[in-house]
Amino acid sequence: MPSLSEYATFFREFRTRFETTGSIAPSSRFLASAMIAPLRNRPADAPVRILEIGPGTGAVTDYLVQQLRPGDTFDLVELNQVFADLLRSKFEREKHFRAIASQATVHVLPLQDFEATQPYDFVISGLPLNNFPADLVDEIFDAYFRLLAPGGVLSYFEYMYVRSIRKRLGKRVDRERLARIDGTMTRYVNSHRIRRDWIFVNLPPAWVQHLRRDQSN
Ligand SMILES: C[S@@+](CC[C@H](N)C(=O)[O-])C[C@H]1O[C@@H](n2cnc3c(N)ncnc32)[C@H](O)[C@@H]1O
Repeated sequence: MPSLSEYATFFREFRTRFETTGSIAPSSRFLASAMIAPLRNRPADAPVRILEIGPGTGAVTDYLVQQLRPGDTFDLVELNQVFADLLRSKFEREKHFRAIASQATVHVLPLQDFEATQPYDFVISGLPLNNFPADLVDEIFDAYFRLLAPGGVLSYFEYMYVRSIRKRLGKRVDRERLARIDGTMTRYVNSHRIRRDWIFVNLPPAWVQHLRRDQSN
């Protein structure tokens, strides 16, 4: 569970950086648990590479670190220096984080500038895509699939019905932007989705989408 000071930090960042922070509070434990579900079914014998994008105060990271095994690699990409500093201090101080600290690296930069040395078996993203320009969302989905190994799984959440509501009620430019984002996401979801979870206990309620990159490309 996020601490009170993590809620306060998150809310402060929401007020100063609304577009990139994207929500008023960290994800609930139900949402966090659904985000890491594919990792629970990983093969027992092989180490894996995991990338978390937009970890914020670490609501999902708290669950992720407990799934790591010796030999796994865990990279985190976070744009906001305040969140990155908080995460780094967790890797120094908190029990489950400290246990795998030598396998983890916090990278402070936007995802679109991140270059990986090797692809990842699991990519877990908390980016608030509905707040971004449509071209950036295209770029981010390209990056997700470039960063995934063949057969790898991308898990991300989106707040339920927010895009459909804003597409109808927003200003015209916003409606056009969201319609383009919808087109991009629908294309990827239709060709790659393996599962969708409905998480009602979250502020706001959210869907978790799990997409798999084909083995063959
Ligand atoms: C909605 S919050 C999710 C935080 C956390 N994963 C959770 O579930 O509580 C979005 C996070 O993405 C980060 N972020 C936004 N744009 C980003 C980008 N282009 N690259 C990396 N991180 C980004 C924000 O700073 C913030 O930490």
